[in-house]
Amino acid sequence: MKCAVVGGTGWQGAGIATRIAKAGHTAVIGSRDPDRARRLSAKLPAHVGLDPARFEGTGNVEAARAGAVVFVTVPITAHRETLELIRPHVEGKLVIDVTAPVNPKNHLENLWPKEGSATEEAQAILGDDVEVVGAFKSVSATMLLNHTMPPNSDILICGDDLQAKHRATLLIREMGFTAYDTGKADAGRTIEGLTQTLIFLNYAYHLNQPGIKVVELAHGMKILPDEKLFQ
Ligand SMILES: NC(=O)c1ccc[n+]([C@@H]2O[C@H](COP(=O)([O-])OP(=O)(O)OC[C@H]3O[C@@H](n4cnc5c(N)ncnc54)[C@H](OP(=O)(O)O)[C@@H]3O)[C@@H](O)[C@H]2O)c1
Repeated sequence: MKCAVVGGTGWQGAGIATRIAKAGHTAVIGSRDPDRARRLSAKLPAHVGLDPARFEGTGNVEAARAGAVVFVTVPITAHRETLELIRPHVEGKLVIDVTAPVNPKNHLENLWPKEGSATEEAQAILGDDVEVVGAFKSVSATMLLNHTMPPNSDILICGDDLQAKHRATLLIREMGFTAYDTGKADAGRTIEGLTQTLIFLNYAYHLNQPGIKVVELAHGMKILPDEKLFQ
């Protein structure tokens, strides 16, 4: 299957393209400048040790047209115009929005769209004929590129369409991660905020590419909630 990565010439796009190729699909990297996308698609396979036949580079519109699934990896400041550009070419497709609201000029600030989150903005712009799932918001590009290492992150996803989230979950599994559905598109207001939280943790504690994993209570806990305690 061909998967487009619109705005795929940045770090996160390169990481997503790597994981698409790792999953056995073909990554069609899109850019405003097709030559830039072609250059990256020529260099990236050797850098990450994957088959060059699994990478292509082209313009954003051509990528969106070619992809059966379309990932969007642009800065929040370019989100609206990029979605409006690809809208005619993604009807009936699964769009996985990776965009986080982090201000590209100040990583410690979020620029929240008027719809609430990037996922909600994407769904509002693309309309009901497009299945939008928000995902990969809080996994670092470095983790995505290091496809042979065990993941330090789970993938928190959100979206209004259950079937779309099932499809995204299967694809994310192929890409080497476990997906957790966190709710409808408005859950983007929570999971997209985590990107900035992780950046802050990186700055404040010098943590190397911190990630978020869903964990459960260890077995064998003896002291458990008991209503009788409060009666
Ligand atoms: N980097 C990470 O570790 C990370 C982690 C989690 C989430 N994210 C999110 O993932 C998204 C991409 O991150 P990134 O680090 O890859 O960003 P980036 O390098 O700043 O941007 C990605 C690509 O977007 C395109 N772009 C930039 N400005 C544009 C504009 N005004 N109009 C249209 N396209 C534009 C550029 O491609 P062309 O110039 O080739 O068109 C650029 O290579 C962001 O929303 C970020 O918050 C990133």
